[in-house]
Amino acid sequence: MERERWATKIGLILAMAGNAIGLGNFLRFPVQATQNGGGAFMIPYIISFLLIGIPLMWIEWAIGRWGGSRGHGTTPGIFYEIKRNNLLRVLGVFGLWIPLVVVIYYTYIESWTLGYALKFLMGSVPKVVGENFLEPFRNFLVSYKGEGQTFLKPSLYAYIIFVITFLINILILIRGVSGGIEKFVKFAMPLLFLLAIFLVFKVFLLQTEKGSAVEGLNFLWEPDFRALKDPKVWISAAGQVFFTLSLGFGAIITYASYLKRDDDITLSGLTASSLNEFAEVILGGSLAIPAAVAFFGVKEAVEVAKSGAFDLGFVSLPAIFSTIEGGNFLGFAWFFLLFIAGLTSSIALTQPIIAFFEDEFKMERKTAVLISGSIIFLSSQAVIFIKGFLEEMDFWAGTIAVVFFSLVEIVLFTWFFKGDPYEEINRGGIIKMPRLYLFIMKYITPLFLLALLFIWGISAIPQILKESKWTLWVARFYMLCLFLLLTLLVFLAPKVSKRET
Ligand code: PHE
Repeated sequence: MERERWATKIGLILAMAGNAIGLGNFLRFPVQATQNGGGAFMIPYIISFLLIGIPLMWIEWAIGRWGGSRGHGTTPGIFYEIKRNNLLRVLGVFGLWIPLVVVIYYTYIESWTLGYALKFLMGSVPKVVGENFLEPFRNFLVSYKGEGQTFLKPSLYAYIIFVITFLINILILIRGVSGGIEKFVKFAMPLLFLLAIFLVFKVFLLQTEKGSAVEGLNFLWEPDFRALKDPKVWISAAGQVFFTLSLGFGAIITYASYLKRDDDITLSGLTASSLNEFAEVILGGSLAIPAAVAFFGVKEAVEVAKSGAFDLGFVSLPAIFSTIEGGNFLGFAWFFLLFIAGLTSSIALTQPIIAFFEDEFKMERKTAVLISGSIIFLSSQAVIFIKGFLEEMDFWAGTIAVVFFSLVEIVLFTWFFKGDPYEEINRGGIIKMPRLYLFIMKYITPLFLLALLFIWGISAIPQILKESKWTLWVARFYMLCLFLLLTLLVFLAPKVSKRET
C-alpha cells in the first residue's frame, strides 16, 4: 500500500500552519502573557522560540520525512528504524500517546467555541447590563464546562455540540491526508486569517474611561528585564512555545511523514513557524489582551487572566463584544475564528494514531479512522463528566511529557542518527540551515530542556502529586492504561517493514 502524500506545497504549508495555529494562539498565549507580566513574558518567549522552537521544528520535519520514506508516520516505528532497540520503541510510544491524550480534551474545548459561535449567530447570548456584566457569561461558560465537585453536568446543548464537533473532525479525517486535511485547510486557513485581521481592526478602536487597546499593546510589548530572573516566567514561556508550535507532540512528525524524500524542509519549516508566530504574537496578542485592557485597565485584566484559564476568552471577550455595536456578529466572528483554529489542530492531533494503524497494521483508512475515533470519543466522556481530567491530562501530556519527548527526539536525531543530521535537514532545502544551528541543536537545546525538566521535577510535579482527590488518580491511572495499550499495540504490530525507498 502506497503511503499518501501532500498534493501541493501550499497545501502542505497551510496544513502545517493549521496544525500549529490553534486555541493556543488565541486563548492560551494571551492568558500566559498576562499572567506572567506582559512585557516580562516576551523576552523568554522569544529566546525560547529561537533556541527550542526553530531547531525542534526542523528536527521534527526531518525525522518525519525520513520516517515517511521508510513507511512509518509515527515515532515507535521511526525510532526503531534509527536504532534497533526496544527501549526506543517504548520511548516512541510517547509520540502516539501525547497527541491521543491531548486530542481527548482539546476537542471538547474546541466544541465550546462552536457552541458559543452558534449562540451568537442566533442572537441568543445572555443580555448584559451594568456593573456585573461578566456574570451572565460566567454562568454561560459553566453550562459548557459543567459544574460540580466530582462529577460535571454540562448542558444537553453543550453535549450535542460536542458530538457534532467530533463528527466534523471524523468527516475531514476519513477523506485522508490530501483529500481531506489538505483540501480543508486550503479554505480554512485563509478564512482564519481574514477573521482574525477583521477582529484586530475592531479591537483597536476600543476605548473606555478605564483604558484603551493601545495600553494593552504597551503592556505586552514593554520589555521588563527583571523577570528574566524568575524561573516561573521561563517555564511558562517555554511551555507556550512547545504548545503553540505543536512541538514534542508527534503531530508535526506525522504531517512531515507525508513529504517526499527530497522535499524542502528548511524554508517550509521556517515559513510554517513564522505563520504561527504571526498568528500568535501579532494577531493573538492584539485581541484578548488589548480588548480586556480597554475595558478593565491593566490591573483588572491581569486579575481576569489569573482567575481561570478560560475566563479571558470565554467570559471577558464575549461580554465586551456584547456591549458594543454589532456585538452579535463580533462574538460570532471571535468564536468561529477559535473554532477553525481548533479544528485544524485537532485533526493534526488525531492523524498520528490513524497513521499508526495504517502504517503498522496495514489497515484501510476508514477502519483506522473509526478505531481511532472510537477510542477518542469514549475517552472524552471522562473529560466531559469527571472534574479534573482535563487539567490533569493537560499537565502530564500537554506540558511535561512534550518536553521529555522533545529531549528524546533531539538527542536521538543529533547524536545517534545514522546519517549526518545537518545533511538530512538540508537535503532538498531551498535555503541552508545555518551551521550554528547544528551546534544549538546538539548542546544548547538539550541543556535548556534538561533545565526545564529539572525545575519541574523539583517544583511543579511534587506539588501536583500532593493533590490527593481520588478522581485525579483515576485520571492518572487512565492515562497510564492508554500508554500501556499503545505499547502493547506497538509490540503486536508486525516487525518493521523492510521497505527502504
Ligand atoms: N499548536 C496547537 C495550538 O496552539 C495545539 C496542538 C498541539 C495542535 C499539538 C496539534 C498538535 O493550539
